[in-house]
Amino acid sequence: MTTKEKIISMLEENKGSYLSGEDIGIQLNISRAAVSKAIKELKNNGYTIDSVNRKGHCIPHKSNTLSLIEIKKNLKYNNDIILKDSVFSTNSEGKNYLVNNPEHGTVIIANEQTNGRGRKGRSFFSPKNTGIYMSIILKPKTLLLENSFKITIATAVAVSNAIDEICNKDTQIKWVNDIFLNNKKICGILTEAITDFESGSIENIVLGIGVNFNTLNFPEDLSHTAGSIFLEDITPINRNQLISKIINNLMDIIENLDDSEIIKIYRNKSFLIGKDIIYYEKNSPIQGIVVDIDDNGHLIVQDSNKIIKILKSGEVNF
Ligand code: BTN
Repeated sequence: MTTKEKIISMLEENKGSYLSGEDIGIQLNISRAAVSKAIKELKNNGYTIDSVNRKGHCIPHKSNTLSLIEIKKNLKYNNDIILKDSVFSTNSEGKNYLVNNPEHGTVIIANEQTNGRGRKGRSFFSPKNTGIYMSIILKPKTLLLENSFKITIATAVAVSNAIDEICNKDTQIKWVNDIFLNNKKICGILTEAITDFESGSIENIVLGIGVNFNTLNFPEDLSHTAGSIFLEDITPINRNQLISKIINNLMDIIENLDDSEIIKIYRNKSFLIGKDIIYYEKNSPIQGIVVDIDDNGHLIVQDSNKIIKILKSGEVNF
């Protein structure tokens, strides 16, 4: 552990209480000046540390700083967690990390993405300190390509439930896996499957989840469609708690992929059922109304001639 990491874990273990620079220095066998320098750097890295003369340094209880210790504290499983301050994209990091043959369930989390990626080549707005950007590496043994669709659906259910339970909200899922709150998108999911060319089976899945936790100040082009779970700086719960819950839910649900319960919840949480939408056939927009979602997670749409269409993938707008 580096000095900065040691200081952070001491402060986290004593969250809410002040530790003097002198005491920290004695415990780590470094000078007070070295403690001050490390604290200053930690603050620059985005950690919320309250420093008060003659009292010392403290991470406040309500701090929204990402913390490995706090995330691990609430985990049900023994996932390997890699926490970074700033990356291009956690999905790209995850794919690069595959050369290290990571364990199933390894999670890469970042406080900021400078090149966050969305579906269809879009970018994902990923400013520091306010969002959750995480990618989970799954090794689904003998999952065939068509079944990766089920993982996409299961992930949407796991994340949506996690937000509802931890943040006390009532989110909905816009087919296929965008999560909405109050008619605005608060979370996007990017599933990247790495297949074995010969067998067609999936060797690894890098499951990227981006959540606007208390993200404000969206760029103009997103401001009408993007929302955030919380709209205030000080939030009732912090990002670490939601991250742990997302990982726990996801690991639980992945073990139960065949469970028809998942599709039932997915349907009940649908943002689109009953709505007028626009879907695309050979790039041409077509109007329709969403009638239902079938047991495979496909969207059942009735077009303006009352003809039923089943959409297996793609984008729809409303
Ligand atoms: C979408 O809405 O089109 C999908 C957005 C997925 C964003 C997440 S953030 C973590 C992971 N890393 C990325 O670069 N993208 C995904």
